[in-house]
Amino acid sequence: MPRTECPFLGFGLGLRKEHYAAIVADKPPVDWFEILTENYLVEGGKPLYYLDKIRADYPLSMHGVSLSIGGTDPLDFHYLDRLKSLIERVEPMWVSDHLCWTGVDGVNLHDLLPLPYTEEALRHVVKRVSQVQEFLGRRLLLENVSSYLTYAHSQMSEWAFLREVAERADCLILLDINNIYVSARNHDFDPLTYLRGIPPERVGQFHLAGHTDLGHCVLDTHDHPVCAEVWDLFREAVRRFGPVSVTIERDDRIPPLAELLDELDGARQIARAYWEAA
Ligand SMILES: [Fe+2]
Repeated sequence: MPRTECPFLGFGLGLRKEHYAAIVADKPPVDWFEILTENYLVEGGKPLYYLDKIRADYPLSMHGVSLSIGGTDPLDFHYLDRLKSLIERVEPMWVSDHLCWTGVDGVNLHDLLPLPYTEEALRHVVKRVSQVQEFLGRRLLLENVSSYLTYAHSQMSEWAFLREVAERADCLILLDINNIYVSARNHDFDPLTYLRGIPPERVGQFHLAGHTDLGHCVLDTHDHPVCAEVWDLFREAVRRFGPVSVTIERDDRIPPLAELLDELDGARQIARAYWEAA
């Protein structure tokens, strides 16, 4: 079963530099941390100093934004070499990136852009995931991104595309519950249909985050607490997928660690209530 490669670690937080000192000093009750890979592809300094200290006390996963697995430029083996070195240093529980493209013709657009959901794109992504997994010698987790546009020539739903990538490339899924909600609002689909379209045995991790609701459009800003609608969708996810490791992500307007620990407790309580009742 693929998911056995992602053991249930419990309830984690995205590691942010604002919390480095508090984590090292207080060893807060967080089951694991998820690091942003690109912040540690450096030669030394404060990020690696804290990384090693925190790794001594907690399991870590690595979460990247630069793979551009759906891009049409050749795979960046310079980046993959650096990624592999960091994997050797961190020994993460798993390694993830996004199902997206991030640039073209050597230009990095610094955004996680959605793919057209076509058979052609599917074959392209599957081939590249297989190449990366072979190079790294391990399975990847790919995350569904938030999006603000769809392509007229898409031939299948996002969830069908994600499922097909995971099954054909034999990779795993990082299911971002907030991103499903954001895209469902922006593109007017039922988020529960999305959940039902994802095979449970492929889901290795959940993300939870906040967003900005402009009414006519929802932006994936990661600068707010998780909203009530996303908690509701999370309840449905834990019911469908069972014990899956959870991370809360906050990337802007970062609050004191205690606030995120409270939010994480909310996730714990919801999940345990369902899993204990099951
Ligand atoms: Fe995410």
